[in-house]
Amino acid sequence: MRPRQPERKPHINPAKIHSERQARDAIHRLRETLRYHNWRYYVLDSPVIADDEYDQLLETLRTLEERFPHLQTPDSPTQEVGSEPREELGTVKHPLPMLSLRAVYQEDEVHRFDSVCRNELQRDTVEYVAEPKYDGAAVELIYEAGRLAVASTRGDGETGEDITPNVRTLKEVPAVLLGHQEPPPSRLVARGEVYMRKDEFNQLNRQRGAAGEEQFANPRNAAAGSLRQLDPRVTAQRPLHIFLYAVAECAGKEFTTQAEMLDTLRKWGLKVNSERIQLCSGAGEAIRYHKALAEIRDDLPYEIDGVVYKVNVLADQQRLGYRQRDPRWALAYKFPPRQKTTRVRDIVVQVGRTGKLTPIAVLEPVHIGGVEVTRASLHNQSEVERKDIRIGDTVLVERAGDVIPYVVKSIQEDRNGTEQIFGMPEECPVCASRVLMSDDKKTTRCPNLRCPAQVRERIIHFASRGGLNIEGLGEKRVEQLFQARLVRQISSLYSLTKEQLLTLERYADRSAENLLRQIAGSKNTTLARFLYALGIPLVGEHIARVLAQQFATLDQLLESSEEELREIAEIGPEVARSVTTFFTDKRNREEIENMRTAGLTLDNPLYREQKQHLPLQGRTFVFTGALERWTRDEARRIVEELGGRASSSVSGETSYVVAGPGAGSKRAQAEQRGIPILDEDAFARLLEEHKSR
Ligand code: IVH
Repeated sequence: MRPRQPERKPHINPAKIHSERQARDAIHRLRETLRYHNWRYYVLDSPVIADDEYDQLLETLRTLEERFPHLQTPDSPTQEVGSEPREELGTVKHPLPMLSLRAVYQEDEVHRFDSVCRNELQRDTVEYVAEPKYDGAAVELIYEAGRLAVASTRGDGETGEDITPNVRTLKEVPAVLLGHQEPPPSRLVARGEVYMRKDEFNQLNRQRGAAGEEQFANPRNAAAGSLRQLDPRVTAQRPLHIFLYAVAECAGKEFTTQAEMLDTLRKWGLKVNSERIQLCSGAGEAIRYHKALAEIRDDLPYEIDGVVYKVNVLADQQRLGYRQRDPRWALAYKFPPRQKTTRVRDIVVQVGRTGKLTPIAVLEPVHIGGVEVTRASLHNQSEVERKDIRIGDTVLVERAGDVIPYVVKSIQEDRNGTEQIFGMPEECPVCASRVLMSDDKKTTRCPNLRCPAQVRERIIHFASRGGLNIEGLGEKRVEQLFQARLVRQISSLYSLTKEQLLTLERYADRSAENLLRQIAGSKNTTLARFLYALGIPLVGEHIARVLAQQFATLDQLLESSEEELREIAEIGPEVARSVTTFFTDKRNREEIENMRTAGLTLDNPLYREQKQHLPLQGRTFVFTGALERWTRDEARRIVEELGGRASSSVSGETSYVVAGPGAGSKRAQAEQRGIPILDEDAFARLLEEHKSR
């Protein structure tokens, strides 16, 4: 049953609460809200609030409950974690409740935590086990007589969902504990986190996208969703991993420290993240650990959202005990959150260099992980509709590492009816041409190759680092040249003069000369770079290299047909069509001619390298007489594709003369020099032999 909808984010300032009546009211509202968020988060896998916002609400409730202890109830969200398990999966009562952790975001709170520990334990220094705080799904594994008996989710902390058959499919979870280093206990209750690696998550999402299935918002949702499948065969298909980090019960074995406990789990064949777990002496080392991990966070294969400290000596943990439902011997020091909620002020449309129209959400600025986010791509009309994002909506925005900020979802509960539905325009916002939208609404294009937005983007791309790398010609400078109408197309870069540049703001003698020198220098480049720089739709750096490996020169590529291109292993039909469409366009041909006239020269080292490994490498063919199966040109191209060369005259370098009917002097010369002469059949056999190598 769906609870009545509570406030999403009540604004309560504990400093302003004095009377019991005020406290009672505030506590009630906070609990309602937190229960609602628990349900969204744990039962639906669909939170409507960022983690740190949730943590703040919980912290406020705790503060109030501490000040008014008689208002404390056993059913308060401070006393439980998560929410009811789903009914479809069976339930499991945890032998001991699964606790949560107090979360802090500031360094001085770590010092405070450490000083509380030191005071209560009456020690000068306390040792902590520090480890990553994994952003996955918490699980409990119960081993009876060394065999996996029960696996469950956290659920509400008291009772979880029975996911035993699903967890059995995880390769990293042993069905039977190992005993060769340490005999397994008669009963073990261990806890840990199941997660999906970032690369595997991306791949899974790509597959789901291609299959038309809904994609997961993040690796945590993907892991949680995969674990809660009713059909374990589905779980088995998902790339899931686990790290164990705690023991709730272990019959017949006494541990002295947390570190020893983890070490023993590892001996029993359970996965422990030994690579990252570290013993820290005191707050200083603990904070350094946090800093070091924050730096490599984006390079780790899995998502983490902070670090966890646990007092190492287990007897000390017991002495410190619990504060409500959090252990006082542990602390989560989280990284600055990378998700925030904000409002969509507007949705604007951007025209890219290939004419693709992209809807962009203009956001009320928010700081996410130290960066101000004001815009986020909404990708396409289909995405806007799938996520139902409207102008005026509150949205959850995420910025993960170096990934472009993206809108996770709209928070429809926050709507007040004034939000506006967005639709892609029918005309290009820049040149007013009628746009073309694909049936699946995933692409919208402006068909006008001369659309100023496209031209400007093409020039920026042409000069960019991956393109011809023209230093000093970044986005702003291109915009300036464009506004001044000095540049209308790529090739006009090559006719820029110093006098023209000097008419522009911020150009002086030296800077104008520098830019012209850079532009002139870009004329000597490679075929691969040039092909990429042209900005042919669907031709990225990789495809540009594939083309350069296949074609010795730009002319050979210009002459090739769509069919020929399709025969190249890595070129699919769409790329082949896009390339031929681009090169058959008269304006593009003119552009290339203009650049050549200006002195463009293209080297192709990739082709040379490639040829060294080809079967006819180093052989020269001379064709003479009539060929029936091929024209001379075709024969030449075949030989070249296999790394050989075709020449029109017989010389000391000639390896074969291919002679058809009517061959005359060249055949005679070959005979004289003792060069092998092949008829068309023999030539065909030779090709077959070499092709199959
Ligand atoms: S220890 C009493 N260690 O964080 C200690 N938890 O906020 C209980 N988590 O339910 C947990 N990484 O899902 C611990 N290295 C780690 C963790 C970790 C992630 C999660 C876990 C737990 C939640 C508590």
